[in-house]
Amino acid sequence: MKRQLLSLAAFLATTFVWGDHYDLPQQGRGGTEIVPLSTLDLTHATNGWGTIHPDLSINSQPLTIAGNTYASGLGVHAHSRIVIKLNGAVTRFVAQGGIDDEAGDYEGYGIVRYRVVLRGEDGHEVVRHDAIARRGEPAVDFDIDVNGWKYLILEVSDGNGSIHGDHFDWANAYFEYQEQNSSRPEIVEAAVLESPLACATTVFSLPGAPFMHKIRTLDPTLAVRAEGLPEGLRWNARRKLVEGRAPKAAGQYHYTLVAGAHRERVSLTVDARLQQPTPLMGWLSWNVVEGDISQQVVEEAADAMVRQGLKKAGYRYLVLDDLWHAPARNADGTPREDPKKFPKGMKAAADYVHRRGLKFGIYSDAAPRTCAGAYGSLGYETVDARQYAAWGVDLLKYDYCHAPADRATAEERYRVMGDALRASGRDILLYMCEWGVREPWKWGASTGATTWRATYDTRDCWRGAQGGIGILESIHGMKDIWAYSGVNRFNDADMMCVGIHGTGRSSSDLCATGPGMTQDEYRTQFALWCMWSSPLTLSFDMTKPLSKDDLAILTNRHLIAVDQDALGQQAELVGERDGIIYFAKDLANGDVAISATNLNDVAATAQFRFADIPALDASATYRLRNLWTGRRAGKVQGTLSATLAPHATAVYRLSR
Ligand code: GLA
Repeated sequence: MKRQLLSLAAFLATTFVWGDHYDLPQQGRGGTEIVPLSTLDLTHATNGWGTIHPDLSINSQPLTIAGNTYASGLGVHAHSRIVIKLNGAVTRFVAQGGIDDEAGDYEGYGIVRYRVVLRGEDGHEVVRHDAIARRGEPAVDFDIDVNGWKYLILEVSDGNGSIHGDHFDWANAYFEYQEQNSSRPEIVEAAVLESPLACATTVFSLPGAPFMHKIRTLDPTLAVRAEGLPEGLRWNARRKLVEGRAPKAAGQYHYTLVAGAHRERVSLTVDARLQQPTPLMGWLSWNVVEGDISQQVVEEAADAMVRQGLKKAGYRYLVLDDLWHAPARNADGTPREDPKKFPKGMKAAADYVHRRGLKFGIYSDAAPRTCAGAYGSLGYETVDARQYAAWGVDLLKYDYCHAPADRATAEERYRVMGDALRASGRDILLYMCEWGVREPWKWGASTGATTWRATYDTRDCWRGAQGGIGILESIHGMKDIWAYSGVNRFNDADMMCVGIHGTGRSSSDLCATGPGMTQDEYRTQFALWCMWSSPLTLSFDMTKPLSKDDLAILTNRHLIAVDQDALGQQAELVGERDGIIYFAKDLANGDVAISATNLNDVAATAQFRFADIPALDASATYRLRNLWTGRRAGKVQGTLSATLAPHATAVYRLSR
């Protein structure tokens, strides 16, 4: 009896629904053949829960959205990805999409993000739909011209932090298909979309400038080449890089990287007004001043930067880090500086800095609160960007404390701030600080950022403890991401601790050695930051004079020239042997800088082997300059050795 009642209920539910019932059309526009999505082989459709059955919901019920039922389609569950290879003869995709009514009616159930993406032969993607669907909402209509596209991608992911009840239907989904000796659409493995590339694909150059773009693949043996290069650029097959001179005319250029069967489109922006042709140089208040920043600190630091010759050496940005804020915003929502710390207002601080010929930076966070607990910018991006512009801000360090862990949200939040800064009417650099957690070197440039932190906060020590970042940990964080750096897109190894000598605040935490470093260790920090094209950001107490030796390190013009080299290359890791790590950096005039750092706690001898350094020719003779002394050091061929004290770095510039 009970069973009969149940099947009666099921019968009623499926037959006498309150809504309408929809069938597929007999044929497409102009009499084209209809290919229902549900008739394709589903082997490669991915799905987060349950099993996909043709023409049924993920619970094997009739497809039902907001009371209406559909004869055909696919019910899926987040996270789901269906990649359809269109094979040239598909012209149109049509469907209705929404949460199936079977999703449990509980708090947080049945909220998904759905995306419909087209992808071209060259890897170029266009997002046609990207939105949230909720249980009970009417179905969304999809009607997409897919002519000329290689893949159609249907994605369903979580929309609210939980995949419970995330039952989504691609209802009455079909393709219009025009048979022309071509094969029918097919669902292929999502892996075809995964890029085998491990390098930048959004690159920049000044017009007519020397250019280099190194191509790396996850599988180093994969054959790779570049096609369709703009005039002036050529493919160097031996070194797997694009080189030459960028076009003289500003504009957006493209070329294609072919890696095995994969093709990916590179976008090259050529622009005389690039925000950061070379890495930024400046001073940040955080490490020694923390919350004690004020108009006075700004004035003293600006004066000292000029007086000590740091401005002359290239250090231009004076950046106020966290805690410049009043306890709350103004009543109208605009940001307000702490009136005790900045009695003349933030504009006066910026003006003072500008009068010294320096640039002024400020700090915020992509969440309701900053790391140290002041108010953040989430939801106030436009208001804040406008106010920063009015104050005369030139750089925004944008932190990521108190924000969700996922990458998509981070991309979105940085993009929103990037857009707001661009719309602010002032040229303001976006300096990302999400600590490298979500691999910002892969996506930071698309948000408008020109620099992104690659590690957690550097500490004033050789070796960190409990996750603290000493020099060893910085090396670890930076050594494998060099193929993502370039002009206007720099990996940041964070503030240097040269000159702090253990007197900092948070920079003294989480150290296994120190706090404070030997001069050799500080020299190593400076040399590596320069080799890596990292921003050179100082963080010692500007109110006290620097020692002669510290000043000599920080104003070493030969090393600064390596950091600021116009090619923007981060030195490539070229060897790790016997506790010595070797880097080599291509420079704009064809020279090559090489470094060897002794990670051992005892003295050791470094041996550069030119045959292991792709930028060098082992049979050529090079003139050598020791970048510590600045002096020429004769000629070399094939190898070069250097004796190194514990934790010291040898660094040379080689010219043909
Ligand atoms: C984070 C950043 C630091 C600093 C502090 C300020 O830890 O990574 O560089 O800005 O916040 O609170």
